Amino acid sequence: MGTTTEGDETMSQKEEIIIFDTTLRDGEQSPGASMNIEEKLRIAHQLERLNVDVMEAGFPIASEGDFEAVKKIAQTIKRTQIAGLSRANDKDIDRAWEALKYAGDRGRIHTFIATSDIHMEHKLKMSEQQVIDTAVAAVKRAAGYTPNVEFSCEDAARTRLPFMAQVVKAVIEAGATTVNIPDTVGYTIPSEFTKIISYLKENVSNIDDAIISVHCHNDLGLAVANSLAAVQAGARQVECTINGIGERAGNCSLEEVVMSVRTRQDLLPYSCGVVTEQIVPSSKLLTTITGIQVQQNKAIVGANAFAHEAGIHQHGVLMNKETYEIMTPESVGLNANKLVLGKHSGRHAFIDRLKELGYDLNKEEIEKAFVRFKSLADMKKEIFDEDLDAIVADEVLRV
Ligand code: KIV
Ligand code: ZN
Repeated sequence: MGTTTEGDETMSQKEEIIIFDTTLRDGEQSPGASMNIEEKLRIAHQLERLNVDVMEAGFPIASEGDFEAVKKIAQTIKRTQIAGLSRANDKDIDRAWEALKYAGDRGRIHTFIATSDIHMEHKLKMSEQQVIDTAVAAVKRAAGYTPNVEFSCEDAARTRLPFMAQVVKAVIEAGATTVNIPDTVGYTIPSEFTKIISYLKENVSNIDDAIISVHCHNDLGLAVANSLAAVQAGARQVECTINGIGERAGNCSLEEVVMSVRTRQDLLPYSCGVVTEQIVPSSKLLTTITGIQVQQNKAIVGANAFAHEAGIHQHGVLMNKETYEIMTPESVGLNANKLVLGKHSGRHAFIDRLKELGYDLNKEEIEKAFVRFKSLADMKKEIFDEDLDAIVADEVLRV
């Protein structure tokens, strides 16, 4: 298997890819994916277990509910950086910080303005100079609250490169510590992304003072490929969502990008702190909460991702798994636990399994779920993960 050498020593020498999860912000903009505060908090706890570096918790000015959710997450989550989105104006930025301030130096203000001709002319009705001035003012205001400021050039992939270089230089001078290059409409192909990042590296004199980030949408099914091309050209932060949910065709899928890095260390020799065994539990929790199913043949987390149907494949896998498996199911948290749950199982095994599936239930919720589990176990030989998902959905989440 041309896979990883993940000895601690090797990992520590590698350059790090920062995983910025935006399931709770861009992912939530997916039709049908809106979540209440409690649901967002559950996902936030799971993202912490998954060990993403940054979680974008929401867009605080967008609604009272989103403000409260970002605030609650900033107050509760203790290790991960928490980002909140704001347009490039004082009101948005002030509101974002009001929610984020509870995370202290882990709070990140993420502010943005569009830089492509089509957006500047038809949406913003602003000149290039006005866009630069607005971006710089926004970054300065955000930097007055926190040194952790991210700036995004919305629709960057359709922005003229010399203008983008001017904007990027100006926002870094103003205090942006991360500069994000979104393919807002999923229009780019990988070789173009390589050119965009390379251009910025060659033409922005202060580019090394900030982390370059990439944020790809999946309209042409290229979000992961484009993100990896950007990384190979010098981007060091990837923005992504669990199950690839997001506006229209979605965002870059976290599980695909992370497992690409882990599986292809020969070509992508970067370290990434994600606990990959938490990938399937994260995917399942999100599906349970939003009701948005994952397609069967979806890479990494689809029901068929590790299923072998053809006889010739089954034979090969029985002889040696590596004949047809480039990564193990256990490495993404599938079948990692061989304990069979049935009517003889006790509370401990039950609670452990729920935790592995990403459910963080309180005592009362566990009790309800356990009673239901026991009565199901009386009728069925074995209780599968899907049964536990259904029990939690019925008894606790009531979806
Ligand atoms: O797709 C996009 O451009 C965005 C920005 C707000 C980062 O989501
Ligand atoms: Zn986006």
